[in-house]
Amino acid sequence: MNLRISVTDRCNFRCRYCMPEEGMQWLQRDLLLTYEEIARVVRIFASLGVSRIRLTGGEPLMRRDLARLVQMIRRIPEIEDVALTTNGYFLKDQANDLVVAGLARINVSLDSLIPEVLSNMIRGDHLARIWSGIEEIERLGLTPMKLNVVLIRGVNDGEILKFADLARTRPFIVRFIEFMPIGKDDGWAVEKVVPTQEVLERIRRRYPLTPLEENDNRPAERFVFTDGTGELGFISSVTEPFCTRCDRVRITSDGKFRTCLFSLQETDLRSMLRHGATDGEIAEAIVGAVWKKEEGHLINMPGFIRPERTMSQIGG
Ligand code: GTP
Ligand code: 5AD
Ligand code: SF4
Repeated sequence: MNLRISVTDRCNFRCRYCMPEEGMQWLQRDLLLTYEEIARVVRIFASLGVSRIRLTGGEPLMRRDLARLVQMIRRIPEIEDVALTTNGYFLKDQANDLVVAGLARINVSLDSLIPEVLSNMIRGDHLARIWSGIEEIERLGLTPMKLNVVLIRGVNDGEILKFADLARTRPFIVRFIEFMPIGKDDGWAVEKVVPTQEVLERIRRRYPLTPLEENDNRPAERFVFTDGTGELGFISSVTEPFCTRCDRVRITSDGKFRTCLFSLQETDLRSMLRHGATDGEIAEAIVGAVWKKEEGHLINMPGFIRPERTMSQIGG
C-alpha cells in the first residue's frame, strides 16, 4: 500500500483546475495533525506493510519546517521512500534541507512553459521562480524528477511537443494528466479533457515511443522514447481509470483516512489519536476501511458524485 499524507490544506496558488480565486476557508491549526501525530500514524501504517510515503498539500512546503517531518518519517525502519508533490514556489529555499533530511523524490506541478499561459492557469506570475526551484533540485542531483502537466484543451495543449522535448533534453519525466472534475468551480467539462490517446498520437508523429511494461501500481502509464532519450508518463484518470490497480490510500491534513480520491466516506483518525485509542485500535480501523476500498470511481457514469472537498483539501 502506498500512503499519501496531506500536511496542510493551505496553498499560495489558486490553480483554476483546483480552487476558486477567493473564499477558500482554511482549517484552524489545531485541527491539523501535528508532526508527532503524523509520525505515529506512519508507524502504524508501516506495521501494516506500508513502505512508501508521499507528502502532499495544499502546498506542503507552506507547513513550517517540513524537513523535520521528512526526517521523522525517514527514521521509521520500514519506510523505504519519502517523496513530495509541490507547486515549486518554495523549493529553491527548502530543497537543500529536504534532501539532507532524506527526501527521495520530488514531483513539481508545471502546466505551461509560456509565462502568460501559466499565469492564467495558476493565477499568478510564478514561472521563473518555479523554474529556479526545479533547477535547484537538478543541481542537488535528485533526478530524474517528475513534472506534472494538467492538460486543458484550448489552454496548454499546444505545448505537448515542447514538453516532450523537455523530457528528452533534461533529467525530467514529464507526466501529462487528464483534467479531472475535482476542483471547486474548476470549470470542468468533458470537452476540456485531452485524452491520453490523443496526446500519445501527437507525440508519436514526431518521436517513436515504447511502452514500459512494468506495472508498479502507480497511476501513470509509462513510455520511453524509443531512441533512449527520456521518459513520459500519462495519467488517464478520466478516459482509462487505473482504479483496478490502485493501491493508494490517503490521509487528509485534518487526519481523515480516505481510501480513494473520490471517496464519499472518511475515517476520523484524528479523534482516535486524540482520545486515547491504542495503536492496535487505530490499525484495526484502518484495516476495516481498506477492506471497504471502492472498486473504482464513477467519473464517467451518471451516478458520479463529486467529493465535497477540493483536491487541495483532500491532498493531491
Ligand atoms: P509517483 O509515485 O511518483 O508515481 O507519484 P504520483 O504519480 O502518485 O504523484 P503525484 O502526486 O505527482 O500525482 C500525480 C497526479 O496523479 C495527481 O496530480 C493526480 O492528478 C493524480 N492522482 C494521484 N493520486 C490519484 C488517485 O488516487 N486517483 C486519481 N484518479 N488520480 C490520482
Ligand atoms: N485534475 C487533474 N489534476 C489535478 N491536480 C489538481 N487539480 C487537478 C484536477 N482537477 C493536480 C496538480 C498537481 C497535483 C497535486 O494535483 O496538477 O500536480
Ligand atoms: Fe495549490 Fe496544487 Fe491546488 Fe495549484 S493544484 S492551487 S498548487 S493545491
